[in-house]
Amino acid sequence: MQKADLIVGLQWGDEGKGKIVDNLAQNYDYVCRFAGGHNAGHTIVVDGTKYALHLVPSGILNPKAINIVGNGVVLSPESFIKELEQFENIVGRVYISDKAHLLLPYHALIDQARERLKGDKAIGTTGKGIGPAYGDKITRVGHRVGELLEPQKLVDSIMSYFAINKPIFDAMGVEQPNRDELTKDILFYKQELELLITDTTLKVWEALDSNKQVLLEGAQGTMLDIDHGTYPYVTSSTTVSSGACSGLGLSPHTIGEVIGIAKAYCTRVGNGPFPSEDLGREGEYLREKGHEFGTTTGRPRRCGWFDAVAMKHAVRLNGVTNISLMKLDVLDGLETIKVCIGYNIDGKVVDYVPYTLDGVEPIYKELKGWSKTEGVREFDSLPQEAQDYILELERLCGSKIGIISTSPDREDTIIRD
Ligand code: GDP
Ligand code: IMO
Ligand code: MG
Repeated sequence: MQKADLIVGLQWGDEGKGKIVDNLAQNYDYVCRFAGGHNAGHTIVVDGTKYALHLVPSGILNPKAINIVGNGVVLSPESFIKELEQFENIVGRVYISDKAHLLLPYHALIDQARERLKGDKAIGTTGKGIGPAYGDKITRVGHRVGELLEPQKLVDSIMSYFAINKPIFDAMGVEQPNRDELTKDILFYKQELELLITDTTLKVWEALDSNKQVLLEGAQGTMLDIDHGTYPYVTSSTTVSSGACSGLGLSPHTIGEVIGIAKAYCTRVGNGPFPSEDLGREGEYLREKGHEFGTTTGRPRRCGWFDAVAMKHAVRLNGVTNISLMKLDVLDGLETIKVCIGYNIDGKVVDYVPYTLDGVEPIYKELKGWSKTEGVREFDSLPQEAQDYILELERLCGSKIGIISTSPDREDTIIRD
């Protein structure tokens, strides 16, 4: 049976998934996104031109690939339509699951209102409405993409949802949509998207049955997973590899390779614990050199060192068969490089991820730095210290590092075997 390969983020998102999906998409017929929404920001650089993708799968730059937005995604029609404007000949090349949930403008207002009310306990969400949209799905009051095909019924249902929740929305200062404006918007979404809406589960099954090469694209990262991340400072979806099964309608038997994406250091946007964060000069160096500012919100990313404890955990959780190590070049020029190899919790040293990472102190090992890896395309051409760093990370995480990235460009990628 043909299997689908999977790309998953192993840290707190922004590991460089977009670059690798784009690079690998050249060998795949289908690229299928399985979770998240337009909170994601996947950057792809081709011949010096930069593309920022949020909902459209990163296979879009490969003219041959068919791109699928699965049922596990929460879809903002407004954001999706805008994003599609960058590309031509979309019909027949992009499909959206009729079972994906709609993320509508009021979800963003609710998200922002909740964050405001939380004050210093705010999660630091992207403010796009992700939590409220998944919340509606789970509490069974959401609306699905397939409902766009019956606009009047959908408008009635949204208006009645507002009527039922009026006291809550009034308390949060979230206004009820105007019926006429809502109708206009829904009719516009239908007009723009109706040719893309389909049963994507059947599409992926057909692809596998006819021996097509299928790549599954995750968003966010393992430590932002709703169950396995640093709750409540997480996103609202299953970001780990098992999310690909429910988010597209695939059985675990259909998953082939699991390619985990990790930066050669570590970043996080938003609030919540981050044991290997470096608040000093070196963290600042990584932020400036790595251009660590959010693709979706422009916020500065918090920066720190590679956390091998969290990585070992992520490798196991996702069933990673191969790691892609990204942004090695950002470490160029550092005299020493730290790697977190354990956590100190009130005097007790552990090498696993505990119930909470709050208050955990990192234990570091120091390795020797190197001068330059930027643009290198062969493993043997890397400085010896960089090779040693990669081999040490492999040992600490218990996984092969098969791909190494040395610049944002599609071609500056080392494939080890
Ligand atoms: P994603 O959300 O996982 O797809 O990652 P993002 O696109 O949000 O962030 C990764 C950033 O790193 C983007 O700006 C990429 O262009 C950039 N990038 C990816 N790989 C490399 C690399 O090897 N070196 C450098 N310097 N930048 C990279
Ligand atoms: P990609 O796919 C990094 C973070 C937010 C916040 C938390 C919850 O580009 O790797 P949300 O808006 O999802 O409710 O915010 O999750 N977050 C991301 N951080 N990369 C992402 O996506 C993220 N998507 C959400 O910053 O801390
Ligand atoms: Mg990103």
